[in-house]
Amino acid sequence: MLSGRRILLIISGGIAAYKSLELIRRLRERGAAVRCIMTAAAQQFVTPLAVSALAAEKAYTDLWSLTDESEMGHLRLAQEADLVVVAPATADLLARMAMGLADDLASTALLATDKPILVAPAMNVRMWQHPATQENVARLDARGVRRIGPNAGPLAEGESGMGRLAEPLEIVAAIEAFFAGSGRLKGRRALVTSGPTHEPIDPVRYIANRSSGKQGHAIAAALAGLGAETVLVSGPSREPDPPSVRTVHVETARDMLAACEAALPVDVAVCAAAVADWRVAAAAEQKLKKDAGAPPALVLAENPDILKTLSAAGPNRPKLVIGFAAETEHVVRHAEEKRRRKGCDWILANDVSPQSGTFGGDCNTIHLVDGAAVEDWPPLSKRAVAERLAKRIAAYFAEGGGR
Ligand code: C5P
Repeated sequence: MLSGRRILLIISGGIAAYKSLELIRRLRERGAAVRCIMTAAAQQFVTPLAVSALAAEKAYTDLWSLTDESEMGHLRLAQEADLVVVAPATADLLARMAMGLADDLASTALLATDKPILVAPAMNVRMWQHPATQENVARLDARGVRRIGPNAGPLAEGESGMGRLAEPLEIVAAIEAFFAGSGRLKGRRALVTSGPTHEPIDPVRYIANRSSGKQGHAIAAALAGLGAETVLVSGPSREPDPPSVRTVHVETARDMLAACEAALPVDVAVCAAAVADWRVAAAAEQKLKKDAGAPPALVLAENPDILKTLSAAGPNRPKLVIGFAAETEHVVRHAEEKRRRKGCDWILANDVSPQSGTFGGDCNTIHLVDGAAVEDWPPLSKRAVAERLAKRIAAYFAEGGGR
């Protein structure tokens, strides 16, 4: 059932657009509220009248309509939905999404939304197979856009191959599966650390590392996506604050630890930050002068280990504490040693040798080590790693873990 769910359905212009009428009916039968945006091309295949009659709400078509903008501007359209569904998604609209273009109402709403998006591509087989389309789809996948189809089979123009729009009932099932999973961590509290830390040398210089924060931010977003009340403690990162997450910005390891302790108690803590191991013992209060004689000798002091501290937090210990191990060799063995040393429950080990491209890149190959077994995950985008981890955490609690 989809009672009370608000779906923004974006219909783009392929012959499969006629199936969107059936999709609207099936969604409404299940109790969903469906609001529709049609591209100009979609209106060549189905009429706004048919769409609005089935949706029981006006179909939105024009970014420049004064009445539409005053009644229901593109930003409200983008935000007042629990899920945005693009069906059919043409090669053109996928390309515009991948590029972040905003040249009509559909693409503008897609750029303006921070809600989850599900695309159902439909196009000719050669358009689907074209490297440009494949690159666009890969880019959208890495961004966490969900996808159903296309299916293989006879195509409208008499050819056959990949490119058929998934059947309306398959799209409905994907939407139901999305919502079924989306509340699995409701009532749980989560803490995630992310990014590097900056350890000052003087007011303008610092020691840092190459962590981007991509993985930690994606984990916070995925946990929040499953309904967890999530706090993200982030070192300096270019990643935007994830939606529906309370983000606390810190600079140093000591600030990060304090922010984590302030967020307790939580059910699960995921330490994905690349915390600097050392800080300058006595950072200079004024900028060090380079013409002051010999280069300064930096005396380093050890930073607190946040993962270890949270793992030993006594009555406040999160039920599940998860760390990462960046290794360049003997990945699993070193990870298990690290798990014991830190006192955490799971370690997600990954290979960060320079040739792996993990740091700052988009892909991770994870081995989940939990003391009893090792799970080898296939190479996944950081977003996909985050979603898999969030589901694994939800399954752990659902099976009674952490009691
Ligand atoms: O000891 P190492 O840095 O290899 O351990 C990595 C794991 O420990 C990561 O989960 C990282 O977030 C966490 N860590 C931490 N505080 C530190 C150092 C590492 O939370 N000071």
